[in-house]
Amino acid sequence: MKITFGQTGSAVVIKFRRHNLGRYQKSANNKKKFHKKSRLAFSFFSINLILLNKKYIVMNQPSVLITGSNRGIGLKLVELYAKKNFYVLATCRDISRADQLDSMAKQYSNIQILALDVAQSEDIQKLANTLKKQPIDILINNAGIWRSSSLSSASKQAWLESFTTNAIAPYEIAQAFLPNILDGSLKKVVSITSKMGSIADNTSGGSYIYRSSKSALNMVMRSLQHDLQSHGIATLTLHPGWVQTDMGGMNALINVDQSVVGMMEIIDSLTLENSGQFVDYAGKTIAW
Ligand SMILES: NC(=O)c1ccc[n+]([C@@H]2O[C@H](COP(=O)([O-])OP(=O)(O)OC[C@H]3O[C@@H](n4cnc5c(N)ncnc54)[C@H](OP(=O)(O)O)[C@@H]3O)[C@@H](O)[C@H]2O)c1
Repeated sequence: MKITFGQTGSAVVIKFRRHNLGRYQKSANNKKKFHKKSRLAFSFFSINLILLNKKYIVMNQPSVLITGSNRGIGLKLVELYAKKNFYVLATCRDISRADQLDSMAKQYSNIQILALDVAQSEDIQKLANTLKKQPIDILINNAGIWRSSSLSSASKQAWLESFTTNAIAPYEIAQAFLPNILDGSLKKVVSITSKMGSIADNTSGGSYIYRSSKSALNMVMRSLQHDLQSHGIATLTLHPGWVQTDMGGMNALINVDQSVVGMMEIIDSLTLENSGQFVDYAGKTIAW
């Protein structure tokens, strides 16, 4: 059976290419009737559909939720997971300033843009309510901030902001979406950290704010590994490399493609058996 999904303005049209299903082609203007019939047809073929903000998800399609997905590493994760035919829940804090993500979502029908400022606990709860009953196979905590600091200056406000975004938010998000992850098949929680959060690797000092916020994230991930293991959920603490993004700067060693392709391979190979690792985009183990 071939299923085609499409959108025409606000009307959603679904075509089932199979002789006895042709009659189920309807427009969303006739949504109620359509929904009932399409569900009947789908249950016959053991496939369920969920209607989420005008986009249809085939339930056996894996899904991934990505934070901070409007630029940099997050945006590339969205693109490559969409190409892999995942249903991508692409979150960002300001939808009105997410032009690139918006055009990507127009190109791929399996990208859903959702608002989420990870530093706002209420936003996290609100989104968790919106996505109730939506299975999430992979959660990727990617959103992060860099605030400069040195021995001579480190703003307390910037420090607290960094802890909130880089360490507390990934914990709150994992907690809020735990039911969704448990409903998923793959059951993976991934956080994009930094080698700069490694205590063993700190041989040059400085960057007090960023380093300590990522060390805190690493510890959050360590605890999540233990707490989620019995639920069948695997965790991964990933360093993306030094990447050419707004944060990494143009002198960084690798481009976004290299980083994200590498990280997705590591995420693919994540299992309960190798859960809890701290590795880089090339699979190299990093000392905590
Ligand atoms: N680039 C590197 O070399 C490098 C190295 C090690 C680790 N990392 C880590 O990799 C991750 C992605 O970094 P990147 O290089 O892609 O950085 P980036 O280009 O600066 O992008 C950061 C992303 O995080 C989002 N974000 C920040 N605060 C947020 C909040 N409160 N709520 C929602 N989204 C928020 C930003 O959204 P806005 O557009 O709204 O600001 C943006 O989408 C970060 O966790 C970073 O620490 C990067």
